[in-house]
Amino acid sequence: MDRPTTLITGASRGIGRGISLSLAALGHDLVINYAGNQEAAEQTARDCHRAATEAGHDIQTLTFQANIGSPQDRDRLLEATQDRFGRIDMLINNAGITSIGRQDILEAKEENFDQLMAVNLKGPFFLSQQIAKWMLKLIESGTVNNPKIISISSISAHTVSVNRADYCMAKAALGMMTKLYGVRLAAAGIRVYEICPGIIASDMTAPVKAKYDKLIAEGLTPMPRWGEPSDIGKAVAAIAQDLLPYSTGEVINVDGGFHLRSL
Ligand code: NAI
Repeated sequence: MDRPTTLITGASRGIGRGISLSLAALGHDLVINYAGNQEAAEQTARDCHRAATEAGHDIQTLTFQANIGSPQDRDRLLEATQDRFGRIDMLINNAGITSIGRQDILEAKEENFDQLMAVNLKGPFFLSQQIAKWMLKLIESGTVNNPKIISISSISAHTVSVNRADYCMAKAALGMMTKLYGVRLAAAGIRVYEICPGIIASDMTAPVKAKYDKLIAEGLTPMPRWGEPSDIGKAVAAIAQDLLPYSTGEVINVDGGFHLRSL
């Protein structure tokens, strides 16, 4: 049981899948959470086993359905992780949905707001709380060293889209959540990070691909390309390997330089 265990929410596809593949290659046992698509989650697990084998590791994976917005489902996810692995070294809060209907801020609906906040903010907040309490016990018993909590926010945390107000606000709040947990858990040895992806090729951005192809060609991002899920996976891998040992509550921009202002 010397291998670290990482739980990744929303890992059946996209960025969560990219993170899973990176960690598999580092020899992490993985809890691959998914919302609905079991076949996609199992495919991710198979690909992770292959990536681990290629890197000379023998890992275990658990694919587990749970809606991160539901308290009962978060409890089930935690219990399943405890039963199967008995430890947790990293939590990756990755699951997220885009703004439902992408309505202008003056037309945005309360039920859509509540649904998005449950998945993109309330879920990560309370899952982090549950996992942090367990991590504290695992540190005390000497089971894990330097566990970490990483949340995947977005450039929408600092960039206004008036047709995705709920999404922008939830992502901005994840930044404060990272600082709050960072301070609360630092002395105990748990480090907390926010990764802020730019425009990443995934199912979420597929419907707006043509728009961003054009904007990127016109110079939207200093690095003139789309980001890939593997770009986020590499940032997570750096944290997983303890390459940022004196940083916590920190944001890591993985956005091709989008956040930089220039004249
Ligand atoms: P995606 O839509 O391809 O994948 C999202 C994953 O989250 C899916 O596996 C989905 O099943 C899962 N999910 C959704 N609701 C869930 C729930 N209630 N419970 C459990 N899992 C749930 O999106 P993508 O692009 O991979 O996004 C991953 C994260 O990265 C999201 O938090 C997103 O907001 C963020 N992000 C994405 C960017 C992009 O350009 N693609 C840019 C910045 C941030």
